Amino acid sequence: MNLLFASSNKNKIKEIQALLPANIILLGLSDINFTQDIAETASTIEGNAKLKAEFIWDYLSKHPTEIKIDAVFADDSGLEVEALNWAPGVYSARYAGEPKNDEANNKKLLAELKLQTKRNAQFKTVIAFIKQNDHQEFTGIIKGTIAYEPRGTNGFGYDPLFIPQGYRSTFAELDFETKNSISHRGIAVKKLVEYLSL
Ligand code: IMP
Repeated sequence: MNLLFASSNKNKIKEIQALLPANIILLGLSDINFTQDIAETASTIEGNAKLKAEFIWDYLSKHPTEIKIDAVFADDSGLEVEALNWAPGVYSARYAGEPKNDEANNKKLLAELKLQTKRNAQFKTVIAFIKQNDHQEFTGIIKGTIAYEPRGTNGFGYDPLFIPQGYRSTFAELDFETKNSISHRGIAVKKLVEYLSL
């Protein structure tokens, strides 16, 4: 099956590719020469995932590709911090404003939580999947806490600040396989794989 992931984020494509069985060929937007930015205008993580999947499905119906695409999916994720009323959530990528910048976002998060001892948080991913008339949604959540300072160099985004429950290391200190096996995106992708192999 040729499965198109509505993303050009190389980190994410690598993470997801590693979780798929060999009979699923994962393609990214660069494989179909799609270079536009899909505006993420919804006010929820679920809404943005749906919006991106529907946009690409519609695009493919109007612009047939050389490679036959059987199904598409899009994901949207965010970090939700309880003491911040579950912010930044859907606004995680641009928490510190435009242009999006991981280091600035991490600095802002630490500043917002400066005197806060209640530091529990969760990462959430929603995957929206479309194959013809079949529309599905898969959610992955991992709970954890926010560290007092950035630690580690692996990964991206808020990885240096997120300590998953049951671990002492931040996501950025964990190796690729370990993060991938427990992460929000990993959980959502495993649900998608289970669905596809039904
Ligand atoms: P996206 O919708 O998956 O692109 O995620 C939005 C934002 O959430 C990203 O720009 C990151 O700041 C953050 N984020 C999502 N997933 C992760 C992750 O696995 N590690 C760290 N940050 C993440």
